[in-house]
Amino acid sequence: MAATIEPESDFSALPDPGEGVFTAPLKRPAHVGEDWLEPAQTDYSAEDDKIWDELFARQMEILPGRACTAFMQGLDKLDLGRGGVPDFGRLSEELGRQTGWSVVPVPMLIPDHVFFWHLANRRFPAGNFIRTRETFDYIQEPDVFHDVFGHVPMLTDPVFADYMQAYGRAGWKAMRYNRLKALGALYWYTVEFGLIREADGLRIYGAGILSGPREAVFALEGESPNRIMLAVDRVMRTDYVIDDLQPTYFVIESFEDLYHQTVERDFDQLYRNLGPGFTYANAAVLDIDNLLHRGTQEYHLRGGRGSGAAPV
Ligand code: PHE
Ligand code: CO
Repeated sequence: MAATIEPESDFSALPDPGEGVFTAPLKRPAHVGEDWLEPAQTDYSAEDDKIWDELFARQMEILPGRACTAFMQGLDKLDLGRGGVPDFGRLSEELGRQTGWSVVPVPMLIPDHVFFWHLANRRFPAGNFIRTRETFDYIQEPDVFHDVFGHVPMLTDPVFADYMQAYGRAGWKAMRYNRLKALGALYWYTVEFGLIREADGLRIYGAGILSGPREAVFALEGESPNRIMLAVDRVMRTDYVIDDLQPTYFVIESFEDLYHQTVERDFDQLYRNLGPGFTYANAAVLDIDNLLHRGTQEYHLRGGRGSGAAPV
């Protein structure tokens, strides 16, 4: 029998990721240290602030009635619509009072273990830069609008805030089992693209949906995508696409439900039983699924992004 892998417990300094762990080979810019933190947040230009305001206004046309209650309340509590790119210092003070989280500036996507480490310390690393007019509708790299508008309001919810920290701590075990992809799929289908069942219907809590103009309607009202109740063992075996609308969304009952399924469960057994790759295609519907909507997949069958297919 394989020995149990001890959970990492001290996150005061960046822990060693472990022997032979593969993480994306990102090149660290010369001006940041091991923690990948920018010395200070950028001074945004008037045009940058204008881009933030326009992105904000555009999302506010779409999100009321679609974003979950915690998100809408978070926007309000943090006053993210006060105008211009938010100041991380001010934001961290407010967020700190509410759930003990802070927001820290990073230059770009950072290595997994560094990201996990910040989360484990209730620090949310946010991209420093903002998209330009050319990339107004879609950028693949997470910028300050995606990170701050999409993710930060959710950190005002106490249960979700605890989930995010636990996720960061959980990274070490996944790395030791070499099952980062599986843990990454969980992040993808919850933190980035999660839906939640509220009393009035399905709502969005995933930042990848909340920070863009098209996916909010597609995710909730589209005929194309599957909507399936989240089961951790299933989701961690499911492939995902990073450059198009999702073929499948997973739905939670509540943030307590999410917390219960993940934080309160020991993943050792699961990691030992997981193969190294994904088992299920991202559009698959399985016999074991608690299915809310079987998608037609019309959007993807017609070619998806770049084909001009309507997101129906
Ligand atoms: N309970 C999981 C484990 O034993 C950790 C976990 C927490 C995973 C939160 C995801 C989110 O590894
Ligand atoms: Co994100």
